[in-house]
Amino acid sequence: MSRILRPAGGPCAGTARAPGDKSISHRVALMGALATGTCRARGWLDAQDTRRTLAAVVALGARARLRDGALTVDPGDFPPPCAPDAAGPDLPEVVLDCGNSATTARLLLGLLAGRRARAVLDGDASLRARPMERVAAPLRRLGAAIEWLDRPGHLPARVSGRPLHGATVELPVASAQVKSALLLAGLSADGPVTLTNCGATRDHTERLLRLMGAGPVQAAGDGSALTSAPARALAPFDLDVPGDPSSAAFLLAAALMAPGSAVTVRDVLIGPTRAGFWRVLQRMGARVAIAPAPGAADAWEPTGAVTVSGGALRPFTIGPAEVPSLVDELPLLAVIATQAEGVSAVTGAGELRVKESDRLAAIAAGLRALGADVDERPDGFAVRGPCALRALVASGRGALLRTGGDHRIAMALAVAALAAAGECRLDDDACVAISFPGFFAELDSLRPRGR
Ligand code: S3P
Repeated sequence: MSRILRPAGGPCAGTARAPGDKSISHRVALMGALATGTCRARGWLDAQDTRRTLAAVVALGARARLRDGALTVDPGDFPPPCAPDAAGPDLPEVVLDCGNSATTARLLLGLLAGRRARAVLDGDASLRARPMERVAAPLRRLGAAIEWLDRPGHLPARVSGRPLHGATVELPVASAQVKSALLLAGLSADGPVTLTNCGATRDHTERLLRLMGAGPVQAAGDGSALTSAPARALAPFDLDVPGDPSSAAFLLAAALMAPGSAVTVRDVLIGPTRAGFWRVLQRMGARVAIAPAPGAADAWEPTGAVTVSGGALRPFTIGPAEVPSLVDELPLLAVIATQAEGVSAVTGAGELRVKESDRLAAIAAGLRALGADVDERPDGFAVRGPCALRALVASGRGALLRTGGDHRIAMALAVAALAAAGECRLDDDACVAISFPGFFAELDSLRPRGR
């Protein structure tokens, strides 16, 4: 459905809640199916993408129950690793619909590659357009059998479980999804799997493996290489899923779109692999206070309360090394750049072109519709601020803000509209349910009373 987006109408203030972390919720559902007993996770993200993962593990034989945000998973009949010299399993084929979720598809390709299973993975039009060879090619180095059923390198794909062997594999792209697929495959390999070119990508799979007693050993001090040992028995976990910093970012950004604002999000993940967004806000001159929760330093994932308040903002420069720590926040940073005095620029972010939409094109088009000065580049963007953002409804320009069905573009444009001169219209508000079903209500809770 389309939605009218209203300007902030005064300072945004208050404490908001971010839903459970999406990346962690996927991993909890997948890895809970590998444990030797029942796993529990409170605060699990109940959203479209994570539901796809949960439905897939249940279709594969695991048992799961979700009640009031508390997820219980146990392996049930989940496929075990293939026996070492068994021929390819002659098993009935399971069809798994990954919907819009690349994390579901890529992690499942790795997880199933060495297990007694045969599955066809498919997805919606956006997911079918996304690159999958990046995960299939390194998995084949371990002996995986993955076939493309339509277009080479794209879903739908069939994975037929095979005994896997240990190997050293260079990742073709610094991606947490690719790294995680290989780590999950490595659990059923016959020897260690060493991954190089890991980059500073999110480390939730490693942390959860450690919690389950099978941590990958970090081979290089900078985390660019990892070695994981095969592990047949993983201990069950009982944990709290932290709030998602990538969802929290949209709420915290509201504090930078209307003068005099201050927004807090509590119980949010503050681990370094996801903290790039706040580091950029600090460089811009925003006030960012991070208060770690008691015991955060020893928690399996550190959490805390984050408060952002505005002021005069300087422009930012972001290069390739920093991209993994804020890859999902880049469209939002383009929005925030409209409020800074000068040219903000991002390079080395070509990955954004193969996300749920071409996010570089989508955010540039949306911001231009609002009158912003945006230069879309092959691997990034430049935004010259400050820009006075215009209203689209009142001006009768007829232009819609288009999400392209992409949840993060929808939320970034809703934040941009807070600073517009009047009302705007978003073409599709339903897509926020992919990662943050309560987003609009939470954003509205920060507006001045009565607005
Ligand atoms: C994710 C990793 C990132 C991110 C995505 C979730 C994950 O993708 O953009 O939203 O859960 O591992 P890449 O690993 O492809 O960069």
